[in-house]
Amino acid sequence: MARHLITSAIPYINGIKHLGNLVGSQLPADLYARYLRGRGNEVLFLCATDEHGTPAELAAAKAGKPVAEYCAEMHEVQARLAEGFRLSFDHFGRSSGPRNHRLTQAFAAALDKAGLIEEVSEEQMYSPTDGRFLPDRYIEGTCPNCGFDSARGDQCDNCTKQLDPTDLINPRSSVSGATDLEVRETRHLYLRQSQMRDALQDWIDSKTDWPILTTSIAKKWLNDGDGLQDRGITRDLDWGIPVRKGDDPWPGMESKVFYVWFDAPIEYIAAAQEWVDAGKGSDWERWWRTDKGAEDVRYTQFMGKDNVPFHTLSFPATILGSGEPWKLVDYIKSFNYLNYDGGQFSTSRGRGVFMDQALELLPADYWRWWLLSHAPETSDAEFTWDNFQASVNKDLADVLGNFVSRITKFCRSKFGEVVPEGGAYGEQETALIADLTARVRAFEGHMDAIEVRRAAAELRAIWAAGNEYLQSAAPWTTIKTDPERAAMQVRLGLNLIRFYAVLSVPFLPDASAELMAAMQTDLSDWPDDVPAALAALAPGHAFSVPEVTFRKVTDEEREDWAVRFAGVRS
Ligand code: MF3
Ligand code: ZN
Repeated sequence: MARHLITSAIPYINGIKHLGNLVGSQLPADLYARYLRGRGNEVLFLCATDEHGTPAELAAAKAGKPVAEYCAEMHEVQARLAEGFRLSFDHFGRSSGPRNHRLTQAFAAALDKAGLIEEVSEEQMYSPTDGRFLPDRYIEGTCPNCGFDSARGDQCDNCTKQLDPTDLINPRSSVSGATDLEVRETRHLYLRQSQMRDALQDWIDSKTDWPILTTSIAKKWLNDGDGLQDRGITRDLDWGIPVRKGDDPWPGMESKVFYVWFDAPIEYIAAAQEWVDAGKGSDWERWWRTDKGAEDVRYTQFMGKDNVPFHTLSFPATILGSGEPWKLVDYIKSFNYLNYDGGQFSTSRGRGVFMDQALELLPADYWRWWLLSHAPETSDAEFTWDNFQASVNKDLADVLGNFVSRITKFCRSKFGEVVPEGGAYGEQETALIADLTARVRAFEGHMDAIEVRRAAAELRAIWAAGNEYLQSAAPWTTIKTDPERAAMQVRLGLNLIRFYAVLSVPFLPDASAELMAAMQTDLSDWPDDVPAALAALAPGHAFSVPEVTFRKVTDEEREDWAVRFAGVRS
């Protein structure tokens, strides 16, 4: 049994996330966590809300609430939606919590002690209209790299380039729209990432098994020399973690806070401390400190591609630079973007489906299935209602749902609600079991490699193999001439339901639980031995016919939803 630490990029606190955000980090992280648990590993799966920085302040101002109150409320909203989607976090933390404050301040002190922090006097955009400096997202303008006209001061959402507010062309205040900006002098702390260039290069070069999307982005920033410029880690803001040197004040920095991208990844560690504080675990150090057992942990991170530079360079620079025995990430799984129906999801314009809306339309499993089976791994992907309807109706209703319904109803009518005995397997059954064995091994291979789409395709093929078997074995015909054989076919069919439930948990946790309940079993061991797994429900075992496992999406619904989510959320 191995130990796996899994983190998902922590979602910004401002507002409810859309399905593109969900499939880019939290959902595939949950898939992997559930799979590893199902195979008997010890898993710690952590996430949190990312509560500092300008997005939080701006959203709170818009909602007319004090920022702390806004964050507390939105954390609850996001936590409930995560539950709704069955995201099985061991802890869902808050980057604004006291643990992260202390840890972030301690990291800054360690980095300072290592000579990696420099105090720099720099020019910052100041808005007389707003009476404040305009760091990061407080400023918008045209990207100097790609020409996108709504690039933010810290990063361009279009081309993912990390920016400085002074890089923007035609900058404007995102608070007031003011363009009469001036440049003023202010002092800030810089992390001397450039000193760690060689160490980071060696580390990235050693990761030959990482997805190309991850390493190509990391290498681009390293080799441009671009991602490894020294980076400002403090801001002139009120909301955030006060700049301190551990427990001591940092002279000259009294009115400043750490930059959100400095403290946010540290929350991955703080979340493990919060997990212990909440009484859910007893030892966070064995997950995070290599001097306390974490060298045996395999640590996997999930994120969208825009997050890759921060996780391959900035956060590792913090970890390595501290000189302390913190666990470094072993594998970074990153995702492209999911687009929505011919354009982008847009939080500001309410374009696309958001997590709360999705759950009002259909249960979580329907969304999980579509999103995971279309995960934007090798390229950007697109959500369309046609495709969603087709996938749900075919894969879930026609293949899996129909199989379950036919076999259970047939058994009830001919043998009652118990597994019938019947004779020995024939050639067809032997062939099916051999096919399923090979497919389960392939499925495991894809899941181990976190090849999400391929894993989904293999799972679908596993369901389809059962359906095809049932179709050709046709116990409803066999029973007329050979009732013993029909009973055997039904026995195998009922066992397939439990087998599917176990394999499908990572994708369809609710449906799997329903199927297990219907089969009146809690035998959920992973089918290492497929023939044995298919004999788990012995003759005489009682079951019940489940309710409709999956319903179809109608044409009217599809048309209605396409109109409803086309723009401007009310
Ligand atoms: N909040 C960021 C985003 O949604 C992700 C932060 S990940 C962490 O893009 F590493 F900083 F925690
Ligand atoms: Zn750009």
